[in-house]
Amino acid sequence: MAGLKEHIFLIGFMGCGKSTNAACLAEMTGARQVEMDQMIVENEGMAIADIFKEKGEPYFRELETDLIKSFAGVEPAVISCGGGAVLKEENVRLMKECGKIVLLTAEPGTIYERVKDSTERPVLNGNMNVGYIEELMEKRRPKYEAAADVRVATDGKTAGEICGEILEIC
Ligand code: S3P
Repeated sequence: MAGLKEHIFLIGFMGCGKSTNAACLAEMTGARQVEMDQMIVENEGMAIADIFKEKGEPYFRELETDLIKSFAGVEPAVISCGGGAVLKEENVRLMKECGKIVLLTAEPGTIYERVKDSTERPVLNGNMNVGYIEELMEKRRPKYEAAADVRVATDGKTAGEICGEILEIC
């Protein structure tokens, strides 16, 4: 298939499958896969949990905005965003200027199963249970919905099916 015309930003709650599906989309389109969290870890030389602990969440959110700014004008890629990357309206505006925003959704129980053993999710660590995941998801839902150009439910689907759906609409 021909390359992408613009970036595809995959957004959604932690554990909704952004990285897995970004890898699959990159393979299907030949576009580059970009992992925002991984780039931040490499640039800062620190794990996400340590950035939160030592420098604070606002600092991490600034890094996200700086990174999103750097995507303007570069070759279209499949970009797997951090789960909180669309909480700031500025970030959503920047993304929309250079790509399509695809929201991946999953049920709280599915999310819990995927993230329960993670020590790298400072937003959840200390509150790793389905009830809290559900509560935070509800709180964030309006932001995710407002940002999304396209929505794809992921429960019970393979990455191939999910990415097929995305490419049909993007
Ligand atoms: C966050 C999600 C994480 C990471 C950071 C904050 C969030 O990314 O960016 O821990 O606020 O939802 P994943 O969605 O890849 O876990």
